[in-house]
Amino acid sequence: MRSHYCGEVDATAVGQAVTVAGWVHRRRDHGGVIFIDLRDREGLLQVVANPEATAVFAEAERVRSEYVLRVTGTVRRRPEGTVNPRLASGEVELVASALEVLNGAETPPFHQDENASEDLRLRYRFLDLRREEMIGRLRLRHRVTRLMRRFLDEAGFIDVETPMLTRTTPEGARDYIVPSRTHPGKFFALPQSPQLFKQLLMMSGFDRYYQIARCFRDEDLRADRQPEFTQLDIETSFMGEEDIMAVMEALIRDLFRQAIGVELPDPFPRMGWAEAMQRFGSDRPDLRVPLELVDIDDLVQGIEFKVFAAAAADPEARVAALLLPGGGALSRKEIDDYTAFVARYGARGLAYIKVNDPAQGREGLQAPILKFMPDAAIAGLLERLQPAAGDLIFFGADKCRVVNDALGALRVKLGQDRGLVAEGWHPLWVVDFPGFEWDPQEKRWAALHHPFTAPKVATPGELEAAPGKALSRAYDMVLNGNEIGGGSIRIHTEAMQSAVFRVLGLAPEEAERKFGFLLRAMRHGCPPHGGIAFGLDRLVMLMAGAQSIRDVIAFPKTQSAACLMTDAPGEVSAQQLKETGIRIRSTEPGS
Ligand code: AMO
Ligand code: AMP
Repeated sequence: MRSHYCGEVDATAVGQAVTVAGWVHRRRDHGGVIFIDLRDREGLLQVVANPEATAVFAEAERVRSEYVLRVTGTVRRRPEGTVNPRLASGEVELVASALEVLNGAETPPFHQDENASEDLRLRYRFLDLRREEMIGRLRLRHRVTRLMRRFLDEAGFIDVETPMLTRTTPEGARDYIVPSRTHPGKFFALPQSPQLFKQLLMMSGFDRYYQIARCFRDEDLRADRQPEFTQLDIETSFMGEEDIMAVMEALIRDLFRQAIGVELPDPFPRMGWAEAMQRFGSDRPDLRVPLELVDIDDLVQGIEFKVFAAAAADPEARVAALLLPGGGALSRKEIDDYTAFVARYGARGLAYIKVNDPAQGREGLQAPILKFMPDAAIAGLLERLQPAAGDLIFFGADKCRVVNDALGALRVKLGQDRGLVAEGWHPLWVVDFPGFEWDPQEKRWAALHHPFTAPKVATPGELEAAPGKALSRAYDMVLNGNEIGGGSIRIHTEAMQSAVFRVLGLAPEEAERKFGFLLRAMRHGCPPHGGIAFGLDRLVMLMAGAQSIRDVIAFPKTQSAACLMTDAPGEVSAQQLKETGIRIRSTEPGS
């Protein structure tokens, strides 16, 4: 139907007859001559309809935005002064000799160049995806997956598909469940990841597996979380963490180099989990922000300011300071806003001290809390933080989790608000995670990664004696404050796997019922193995400079896990409910 893409017609085609097809991006009637910017996925081409070509002109008069056209004509240079250097086709235009309307279009709900609301864009996603920016992002995604496949193929990895209809896979979120018609009252779960299947493939001897796999997690959504998302999922046999981390770094370096021309460091720096939490309050520290948390528990023990003293006396709490250079310029209102910001993370306040002149000690400082702080505490604080005149010190005092969440988020926010975020790409590995976390509500241990991650202990007995002490052989890859991948060396003996299930409070019968297939496979010759999964959406979001993974997914869901375009989730018929043995309770309140 055509000889060229619109966006490909450039000065080399001057004098040639070409046929293009695409959508009307804009139509301008210049009294006598009609200009149509015709658009396809490669870009725009200016079409000229002259009144002398009567049939062409008549058609051009009736076309509107987003009509689908086919145009044949001759390419000519644009007149002096009308060249558009922003377009590949900006030096030329197509003088139409034939113009055919292939299809009309309703008036679009928003124009291509307009900043429409995200809801409107999602409802009309098929129109939104016509935008150059969206096409560019999805093409970047395509380039990324192609490069991943090429790299892994050359490194001997085999792409294997795993089931979507399966049993629950414990990755820490709620499952999406699917009722079975053939087994009324029973349900499949959609996979939260292919974790157990990829481990079973190692037990089958595949040695190196990968899959670009869809994962499903019913969890609270954020800008970097979707209920269905894509992982580059990888597993290997007979490789330790050093080997695996080296190959995975090489993969990511290759991707950044080939896809967006960025050189990442070799090797990536590494940081222990404990250090990351202590210095950055986060297990995915954004190293572009130069602010750090500093512990001051020892300085505020027993002081009159009870908020600090109580936290300093509690082994599960911490008192931390965050020095903001130049922060003395913050207004009362700005400080109140930051106090409200940390409250979202559970912080009950945000104490601060303004530093006017550190050389004067107490006299050079300004804050309501100073009167409750003894001289020694103030001297120790100034010594430890080394503030300059005009700085501000924020404080958090609470359970470690609250302080880390609150000040960890605050340091990133301050970095953004105050223009302190360094340019560039700062990857790192976070290692030495604790294996298990005590859940005070449920009164039991929970796996920090997943229950198949190998603990750093010699024997199951050592693990069961002190689960809180065991670090795990897990590693997360972090880039500019985003967790882009996570993996671990796995447990490969039934004895250790059963011990972990016991630590997690899983009765033997329950372990057998849920994971019997895994334990059975471990008894049939299970190689040492380990792997990782990368969040493809997050990776592409970062590479594209997008703010949300929704912007790099063709048909994403909203924050409330719905699709505005198809109106999913929707009702099912009475027949479908009957066949699957499901009765819907009334959703009226009180029922
Ligand atoms: P994990 O749960 O850490 O590990 O997931 C791996 C990576 O997937 C991405 N990710 C998400 N992206 C978008 N939306 C979500 N809801 C979402 N959840 C996770 C993150 C994360 O780093 N089976 C293990 C991997 C392994 O051990 O090999 C797993 O799924 O970028
Ligand atoms: P108050 O004694 O409640 O008036 O608090 C005095 C100052 O300490 C205020 O600036 C509060 O924002 C701050 N503050 C209160 N609780 C905490 C906390 N847990 N951590 C840090 N600062 C706090």
